[in-house]
Amino acid sequence: MAEIGIFVGTMYGNSLLVAEEAQAILNEQGHSARVFEDPSPADWEAYKEKYALVVTSTTGQGDLPDSIMPLYQFIHDRLGHQPALRYGVIALGDSTYAHFCGGGKKFDALLQDQGAQRVGDVLLIDGSEHPEPESVSNPWVEQWAARVK
Ligand SMILES: Cc1cc2nc3c(=O)[nH]c(=O)nc-3n(C[C@H](O)[C@H](O)[C@H](O)COP(=O)(O)O)c2cc1C
Repeated sequence: MAEIGIFVGTMYGNSLLVAEEAQAILNEQGHSARVFEDPSPADWEAYKEKYALVVTSTTGQGDLPDSIMPLYQFIHDRLGHQPALRYGVIALGDSTYAHFCGGGKKFDALLQDQGAQRVGDVLLIDGSEHPEPESVSNPWVEQWAARVK
């Protein structure tokens, strides 16, 4: 059983829906998962020796949505090294844009730079192919849940 914080970056709610379904799957598998919309630094710090699952879309030109940008900035500016953190990333985007899933990729790059340990590959979901992103994320989360101790 693991404690997992699910940190959401969304504009229109797609990522929040994915996060809520992930929470249900993780809890069904015996973990203790909690979703944070508009996640704060304190929310993140509570999980920095546990598990974080970042679920974020991309806006602008490969940018993070406003709901998660302050958290990204805090981690970038204030947390130097997070070797005890284990994490996963689900990135929502659309391949018709130039910087496909740029927001999720940026978050992953930051956590890699800080020495955090990623569990599994980053999941990239293309909204132009999958109008229901949870149909892609739910099977991925099932597998991810089994790798989380
Ligand atoms: C203004 C705007 C800009 C976007 N820019 C990108 C982008 O640069 N790269 C990408 O992969 N997707 C981009 N997208 C697609 C969204 O990330 C995608 O539709 C996603 O499913 C939205 O999820 P959300 O409701 O959680 O925000 C953009 C969408 C909008 C409306």
